[in-house]
Amino acid sequence: MNVKDKYIEFFKSKGHTQIPSAPVVPENDPSVLFNTAGMQPLVPYLKGQKHPYGTRLCDYQKCLRTNDLDSVGDTTHHTFFEMLGNWSLGDYFKKESITWSFEFLTQTLEIPTERLAVSVFKGNSIVQADTETAETWRSLGISEKRIKYLGEEDNWWPNMEAVGPCGPDTEIFYWRSNDPIPEEFNPEDDRWVEIWNNVFMQYMHNEDGSFVELPQKNVDTGMGFERITSVLEGVTDNYKSSIWSDVIRKIEDVSGKPYEGNEKSMRIIADHMRSAVFISADPAGIKPSNTDQGYVLRRLLRRTIRYARMLDIDIQSDWDKQISELIISKYENYYSEIKDNKMVVLDVLSNEKNKFAKTLDKGLKEFEKVIANLKNSTLDKDAAFRLYDTFGFPLELTLELAKEKNISVDIDGFKEKFLEHQNKSRQGSEAKFKGGLSGNGELETKYHTATHLLNAALKLIVNQNIHQKGSNITAERMRFDFNCDHKLTEEEKQKVEQLVNTWIQQELPVTVTEMDKAMAIQSGAECSFIDRYPDKVTVYTIENVSKELCGGPHVKNTRELGKFKIKKEEGISAGVRRIKAILEG
Ligand code: ALA
Repeated sequence: MNVKDKYIEFFKSKGHTQIPSAPVVPENDPSVLFNTAGMQPLVPYLKGQKHPYGTRLCDYQKCLRTNDLDSVGDTTHHTFFEMLGNWSLGDYFKKESITWSFEFLTQTLEIPTERLAVSVFKGNSIVQADTETAETWRSLGISEKRIKYLGEEDNWWPNMEAVGPCGPDTEIFYWRSNDPIPEEFNPEDDRWVEIWNNVFMQYMHNEDGSFVELPQKNVDTGMGFERITSVLEGVTDNYKSSIWSDVIRKIEDVSGKPYEGNEKSMRIIADHMRSAVFISADPAGIKPSNTDQGYVLRRLLRRTIRYARMLDIDIQSDWDKQISELIISKYENYYSEIKDNKMVVLDVLSNEKNKFAKTLDKGLKEFEKVIANLKNSTLDKDAAFRLYDTFGFPLELTLELAKEKNISVDIDGFKEKFLEHQNKSRQGSEAKFKGGLSGNGELETKYHTATHLLNAALKLIVNQNIHQKGSNITAERMRFDFNCDHKLTEEEKQKVEQLVNTWIQQELPVTVTEMDKAMAIQSGAECSFIDRYPDKVTVYTIENVSKELCGGPHVKNTRELGKFKIKKEEGISAGVRRIKAILEG
């Protein structure tokens, strides 16, 4: 039995119910792309909602983190990983949690106590030093010198900034070395590796910065399956553990090269393919694309393909199928979607491979050509954008190639071009929409006018240098992108909303005039994409409030709009924010 199965069996014997892993793409949380921790799907229950399976839960949860993707390729970092977790939702607390963790490690897994050490929270302005936890560890046989009190940086989960349930934790460390085990625990010594985190989730960190006690005291624990497996199998390179060794052997096989000397490429291929399998098998139906989860999937696959090429793997052969079939066979008994969506996964992977294989070589040649002619050590925005747009190189791939040559990339310039391009294609599709289908019904027309009001209100309330960076309108809502260096505060959002509604109530007339572009600009009319307009332009004016170059159509009077409501404000790229808003009634 592997650790995953032993873990579930152990906690079941302590009255826990096993819950299925939530999908890797969160179902009801558009604020994150992927589940990053076992507790994420449980947030409502940690806050007090009743869980249908009771108050003691355990699972193995699929997690995906892409924040340190660049570190993948070393011995320990993975994008996808499984987290073993057990929870008390207002049921047991510190003593039971610690005692069971200790029992599982020392009895079920037979880890000798002398290889273990722990950290506990040393206290802050919210809660005192956790002497109760330290005392429990002592009573179990952990010596005084193996217990260290650490501060917020180490022993508060997730951290002091994140909004949501949180609390002090105790972390368990394992001596992973053949060197003699020191009597005293030194958290700075990386031969001590953290294997388990028990969080005592008893606080809610609110938006306004306050920490208040949750209605119930919870326990949230997490143990990385990849790490505990390597620890138990006595390997320091995770890819040499049983989780990976057969996948690495398969990559050796398809490339005809040994792992030794090719570790980085093989680890990246193994890691990224596994993540790609899980993302494309997810019920959310993610396909490679240029946004959100689809973009992550594309990046992972294209990076894989580039590394496969570095190993001289024949890209057109079925190497990807061989590797992913092996990965699927390792997980299909644990996750039903892997079994059910096997064909989908294989299709997604081979389609993306075929697409990118066509342009990869040409793109790499283009890259070489560009850097051979470089006048300084920066790749300009046009070259970076061409690699993206024509050759399908995700920006991050270009960055990686450039880094290998000690060249920097004009990232801001790239992003500017990217947004411009997005707006152009959006306008293009809007124009097509207008020409062909309806798309300019009464509701859309109202949203056009509301967009001008919002633009004007943001300038007055937040910053006069705000301009439109993009817009998208349907009959149900409007979306408005604008430059801004910060997340809008609640107050700013409220004031913007109020101001737009005041203008609506003032029943301002909307008028349209035709004039020369130069004249229009001179008269101070707002214009986001000046080059896109012909010499003769239409300017829409909302009395005393706004004057914008625009193709329309607009309502005749702001009173037609009803009530304006901001639904969401979020960042979409560096320095660019997006507001989603609706009109009611
Ligand atoms: N939620 C805790 C973690 O992810 C257990 O470390």
